[in-house]
Amino acid sequence: MEKKVILITGASSGIGKSAARELAEAGHIVYGAARRVDQMEDLRPSGVGVIALDVTDHPAIEKAVDQILEEQGRIDVLINNAGYGLYGAVEDISIEEARYQFEVNLFGLAQLTKSVLPPMREQGSGRIINISSVGGKIYTLLGAWYHATKHALEGWSDSLRLELKPHGIDVVLIEPGAIDTNFDEVMAGPMKERSGQGAYAEQVDSVVRGLERFYTPENSSPPEVVSHTIQKAVEARRPKTRYATGKFSRPLIFLRWLLSDRMFDRLLGSF
Ligand SMILES: NC(=O)c1ccc[n+]([C@@H]2O[C@H](COP(=O)([O-])OP(=O)(O)OC[C@H]3O[C@@H](n4cnc5c(N)ncnc54)[C@H](OP(=O)(O)O)[C@@H]3O)[C@@H](O)[C@H]2O)c1
Repeated sequence: MEKKVILITGASSGIGKSAARELAEAGHIVYGAARRVDQMEDLRPSGVGVIALDVTDHPAIEKAVDQILEEQGRIDVLINNAGYGLYGAVEDISIEEARYQFEVNLFGLAQLTKSVLPPMREQGSGRIINISSVGGKIYTLLGAWYHATKHALEGWSDSLRLELKPHGIDVVLIEPGAIDTNFDEVMAGPMKERSGQGAYAEQVDSVVRGLERFYTPENSSPPEVVSHTIQKAVEARRPKTRYATGKFSRPLIFLRWLLSDRMFDRLLGSF
């Protein structure tokens, strides 16, 4: 197996932490980045290099990329995984909160991608793996801003793939379904605060019931399911353009394709 130099964001929790560990243990040179450095300490024994990084901090992005280039002389794979779900009624979410959702889930990731492209072009090779979501293909109640970022990421990544092909750089999308991480907690608390009282209270209750039903060990996949897929996307000689992975991802994408908008609305309402 060819040893790759890999940078992965969101390595302090969930999918990112699992992927950083798995890739390092498979023999790759892995740098894990996140804001909570203390939450990445347990990755060090697997050989993961730990970098403090807020993906909305552009000078910090440059510094992180420079550090890896200085230490390794190249970056082969960037895994853009950091992200969160801003949920609540559009009426209750400020445009500043929505902009921040885009800063983390799209523009931060775009800035990081821009920073690794010059060295990848010089190498004549590289791979950008973007962790999207089944939510980049479908939609859910009270998730307008989250889905806006992931739908945007899908189009952005497809277009970027065309642009980078002549330069030997590939772009791959990963579309996880329901994965048992901190994602649901990070999204549910603030949603209840924003919209739990008032006009949208019943809809919040319904989303919370859905989370309780789906984010259980039986109805969701462990993060390892996604990190195995990420490893495949890293190591494949010719990766797929997108990988739907984890509980409900493929069936939901299929149903979205099959059903009319109104039928799919009804399906979501029945959860
Ligand atoms: N879990 C699911 O069901 C699911 C389904 C589909 C897609 N996804 C996607 O999978 C990705 C990983 O999520 P997860 O499920 O593993 O959730 P998680 O356990 O909450 O982990 C999220 C990671 O993102 C990092 N992060 C958040 N904001 C950041 C920022 N401003 N700068 C740097 N890092 C930041 C967090 O690190 P710090 O807080 O330490 O910075 C953390 O490591 C996300 O893009 C999410 O949209 C998840």
